[in-house]
Amino acid sequence: MIYFDNSATTKPFKEVLDSFVTVSSEYYGNPSSLHSMGAQAEKLLSQAREQVSTFLKVKPAEIYFTSGGTEGNNLAIKGSALLHKNKGRHLITTSVEHPSVRTAMEQLEQEGFEITYLPVDEFGRISVANLEKEIRKDTILISIMHVNNEVGTVQPITEIGALLKKYPTILFHVDAIQSVGKIPLSLYENRVDFCSISAHKFHGLKGTGALFIREGARLAPLFSGGNQERKLRSGTENVAGAVAMAKALRMTFTKAEAGLEGMQKIQSVLRKGLTEIDGVQLHTPNEKAAPHILNFSLTGIKSEVFIHSLEQKGIFVSTTSACSSKKKSPSKTLLEMGVPETLAESAIRISLSFENRMEEAITALEAFKESAKQLRKVMK
Ligand SMILES: Cc1ncc(COP(=O)(O)O)c(C=O)c1O
Repeated sequence: MIYFDNSATTKPFKEVLDSFVTVSSEYYGNPSSLHSMGAQAEKLLSQAREQVSTFLKVKPAEIYFTSGGTEGNNLAIKGSALLHKNKGRHLITTSVEHPSVRTAMEQLEQEGFEITYLPVDEFGRISVANLEKEIRKDTILISIMHVNNEVGTVQPITEIGALLKKYPTILFHVDAIQSVGKIPLSLYENRVDFCSISAHKFHGLKGTGALFIREGARLAPLFSGGNQERKLRSGTENVAGAVAMAKALRMTFTKAEAGLEGMQKIQSVLRKGLTEIDGVQLHTPNEKAAPHILNFSLTGIKSEVFIHSLEQKGIFVSTTSACSSKKKSPSKTLLEMGVPETLAESAIRISLSFENRMEEAITALEAFKESAKQLRKVMK
């Protein structure tokens, strides 16, 4: 089996599962309880917070545990809008965000907020000059993803951060869910106020994540309840999940140090091999793209058909993003990049992890060639 769908989710590391089981079975106290079991759980939670903050190079008090990327994105966006609605009702984002950002924005639009969706060029990238033109007196938040989950394009976060130094009252949210461990991001230097991460994208567990909230940046909570996570995220904390996420993050950063070059090599071998297949068109840009995503179309063959043919050969890839793939509509990111609809309907996303090997890429390329040939024969 060759698993090339790591942007949808990754296989949890064994050590991550082990720490989840140990904490769940031995330290199951509620961190809010006053007895020693509560204190033990609270200690584990603070250690996990400290570890996560170390890897993100921020303060422990700036880490808030969430149930994952969707929650982090919703909290940053709706929480800011709720708290700052009297200062302004304008938000800016891109036209290629994950649905957890896009639909949060659409919901705000229904509540009377105005949203600017920045267009992208043929590489899926926004223009910073364009962004500056859209900034208004009543702009309260700018939300831009770091790495696009469908094509891997890296947005110019450094340039945006530099620009926003001129606009100190505007909050800046970055969805870094696809970039953790792959593309470094300095939150302080880039003047980021909120940053969401999700553990299942880096071999942690589903339903665990964190939102960085810069000291001094304020937002309203979305959940009412017991005031956990310094009143911003009520609900009994998932201590075992947070500990497991801290472990996954540590292992990911260690593996990235040794494995980033290898991942880039695998990506370039796949890129070269794919371009040699008749009818393949690559959508992932050559430059300023993440090392783990490759998006391409095999002209004339619908994505689902190609995916199932590859699955029969033991190779697992995606159509678009995991959440959009069941809708069977072509990728919004590709359409926004100007890819014709018929070509977008044939899009395939390969996504790698540090666990993938070069031999797998070579085997997969053979399978791509064979499937392409078989399917073309059937189509004739
Ligand atoms: C860029 C991006 N943002 C947000 C999410 C949502 O994260 P989660 O699955 O943890 O809710 C994903 C997941 O695919 C993603 O790729």
